[in-house]
Parts: sequence; C-alpha cells; structure tokens
Amino acid sequence: MEIKKNKIHKWARLTVVGAGPGDPDLITLKAVKALKNADVVLYDALVNKALLNYTNPNTELIFVGKRKGCYKYQQEQINELIVDRAKSNGHVVRLKGGDPFIFGRGAEEMEYAASFGLETAVIPGISSSLAVPAYQNIPLTKRGSTESFWVITGTTKQHKLSRDIALAAKSKATVVILMGMGKLSEIITLFQAEGKNQLPVAIIQDGTTVREKIGIGTVDTIEQIVSDNELSNPAIIVFGEVVNHRAQLVKVKNEVTTKQLAS
Ligand SMILES: C[S@@+](CC[C@H](N)C(=O)[O-])C[C@H]1O[C@@H](n2cnc3c(N)ncnc32)[C@H](O)[C@@H]1O
Repeated sequence: MEIKKNKIHKWARLTVVGAGPGDPDLITLKAVKALKNADVVLYDALVNKALLNYTNPNTELIFVGKRKGCYKYQQEQINELIVDRAKSNGHVVRLKGGDPFIFGRGAEEMEYAASFGLETAVIPGISSSLAVPAYQNIPLTKRGSTESFWVITGTTKQHKLSRDIALAAKSKATVVILMGMGKLSEIITLFQAEGKNQLPVAIIQDGTTVREKIGIGTVDTIEQIVSDNELSNPAIIVFGEVVNHRAQLVKVKNEVTTKQLAS
C-alpha cells in the first residue's frame, strides 16, 4: 500500500482503544466517546462486535483480525492502513481486545503512526489477564495467599515458550499466562520440575462472554481436564493458590445457608 507523505487530513490522528475482555459492558466511557467520534475503526477478532454500535452510521469499519486461524492483514499492512486512513479520513480508532498495551501491539502501532507525523493517544482497557479470572472469582492477589502476580505470554515473537515462565514457576506469585494453550504441556513440565504438582490451576476460555468455559484442577490434572472439557483458545491459564478462592466462597456461603436453615 502506498502512503502519500505530503497530504494529511486536518483531523488526522490515531487513538488506540482498549475494548475490554469480551463483555461489552466492560468498556470505559472514554473508549465509547472515542468510538462515537471515529471516522474509521480498525478492530480485532477478540473485540465484541456489539461495541461497533457506538460508531456513527458513516464510520468505516475494517476487520483486521484473524479469521479461521488466518490473518487477513499482516501487522505491517495494519500499520499502513492506519496511516493511510488517518491521512484520508481523519480520526482512526484502533480497537483492540482487553488493554492495547498488554500483548496488544498498541505501542508499535502508535510509534509507526507518529513516525508519519500523526497525533496519537491511547485509551486503556480492562485487560483479560485481570478481568477473566476476576469474573470467575479468582483474585490475582489475596492477603496471606499471594503478594504479586506475573502476566506472561506463552508464545514469544519467535514462537518459543517465554523463558520468564520458568522463572515465574519458581516464585510464590500467581502466574497468569496468555496465549499459552498451544504450549500447555511444556508449561506444566516447568511447574512439575519445581515440585508444584498440587498447585491449583484454572483455565478460562472466552472469559466474560456467553461462550465462557472453565476447567479447574492442579498442575498434575489440568491437561486431562482441558481434554475432557475441550478447552481451547482464546484462554487464560492461572497458576496459584488464589484459584481456591472460588471454592472458598462457595464453602463460606454454604455454611451460612446451613446455619440459617438450622436456626
Ligand atoms: C494477543 S493477546 C491480547 C491480550 C489483550 N490485549 C488483553 O489485555 O486482554 C490475546 C490473548 O489474550 C487472552 N484473552 C483475551 N481475551 C480473552 C478472553 N475473553 N478469554 C480468555 N482469554 C482471553 C488469550 O490468551 C488470547 O490468546
């Protein structure tokens, strides 16, 4: 795609916007305002399409995500499309799942646009890394249980397993892994090597959406649970004692109900 360097639309700019994790109510007011104000919206596969209803009827909507496992646009083409449309149409909103700066390539797209003289801004979103476990009553930190958490990609730029996972497996932190389903066996092996065979694990697919599915187990049992429940991408993997909080909630509630029935 050829980008004309000289002519720039008066309102040419890029706003990189977080769409939240899936539930369309989990978007910020600022993001909604940006959508209302957009001339062009480029959106990804993990974005809830209902959010596009916030745009004007004459806003151009371009899907740039993966369809049936294949990318319609390579990242380079998306970058060029952003600049091209901003120059010709004005305000481009790049709508991304979760938060655009958490494994979202939002920073790269902003840098590219800025290199063509465009104004850029980001509107943070609610990341799936936090919200998807939260919707399943899994807190990433809990007093007395965990003091920190890691959010790690399972798959690096070179399609390798991130070496940070081996480090995280040694720590007492809650470990949240995105894009890790294809490497689940390797990840499990790392936790087993640390003797964490009984550590609780949760895998949540399509979290915060109507398609949501969850599997709960331990390091040793989770692979069987994934297979039994046919869990697949997009999914979040959570390792840590905090996973037990959901069961704890149910237990506490049941105890209260039993007491109420007995009185
Ligand atoms: C390229 S990353 C983008 C993350 C995004 N920027 C965020 O902050 O949520 C995509 C990965 O995020 C995770 N993910 C995103 N939305 C999800 C959802 N609703 N349920 C489960 N996992 C999700 C999956 O691991 C998926 O492969």
